[in-house]
Amino acid sequence: MLAALEASCHVVLEGPPGTGKSTLLRSVAAQTDTSFVFVEGNAELTPGRLVGHFDPAQVLTKGYDPSVFIDGPLVTALRDGALLYVEEINRVPEETLNLLITVMSEGELMVPRLGLLKADPSFRLVAAMNPFDSVGTARISGAIYDRVCRIVMNYQDGSDEVAIVAQTHPEAEADFVAKVVEVVRATRVHPELRMGSSVRGAIDLVAIASRLAERRGQASNDPVGGLDAALVALSGRVRPFEGGARSVESIISDLWHATFGTSAAEDPPGKG
Ligand SMILES: Nc1ncnc2c1ncn2[C@@H]1O[C@H](COP(=O)(O)OP(=O)(O)O)[C@@H](O)[C@H]1O
Ligand SMILES: [Mg+2]
Repeated sequence: MLAALEASCHVVLEGPPGTGKSTLLRSVAAQTDTSFVFVEGNAELTPGRLVGHFDPAQVLTKGYDPSVFIDGPLVTALRDGALLYVEEINRVPEETLNLLITVMSEGELMVPRLGLLKADPSFRLVAAMNPFDSVGTARISGAIYDRVCRIVMNYQDGSDEVAIVAQTHPEAEADFVAKVVEVVRATRVHPELRMGSSVRGAIDLVAIASRLAERRGQASNDPVGGLDAALVALSGRVRPFEGGARSVESIISDLWHATFGTSAAEDPPGKG
């Protein structure tokens, strides 16, 4: 990523949620001393919001003077030579994307009534996106792909994932954390699940398990309390295949029991 940016390339980071795209970018921004402009990509990101606008009240008195233009994130990044980080670029409307394409290929932006803005040479666009097959995302155009370099992010490997969870919850018991990560990783390869949980699920699970244990006066690694925490932390994050016969709760319970060596028969009545 650093080499690509040094080589004057724009970059797209592609990977499922929770694979460390934002973390990587924040760390790159911290290491290079370029400034960093963050934009959340969504359907409301119109060209006007990305570029900026003339303050309507001041236009009445001063007219379309450059001094009354309120810079949007793109103009700020072009002027300052900053890294413009667009999260979830595949949710951005087509007309806004077209603007970015022009900026990337021409290195300049034409703003109506403001004029032509040249990009500072250190301006870079870094975009993050989920892979095509995930829910609610569209394919971005070939015109974008032809102007960016691509870095694929995947789920952390097991030991890194344990380290991330342990770093967030230093108080948690190591064996419990390792098993929680094992359950979460198993959701990603489960034949009945289209989408598994990222490390965020493991982080939340460990946090909830510890609070729940406190409230119930149980051990923080109690497998039954842990299962309740797992259902809360994971059931909304995993997606079953359409028309699957089983509930996600039942799949998560199975994975939990298989990893912790417990059995559904030990669950208190009413569970499941
Ligand atoms: N290399 C890393 N070191 C420490 N924590 C990490 C690392 N990569 C990811 N994380 C943690 O994992 C979670 C998801 O990472 P994030 O960068 O937000 O993913 P994405 O942007 O791909 O959705 C966050 O809680 C983040 O702090
Ligand atoms: Mg992110």
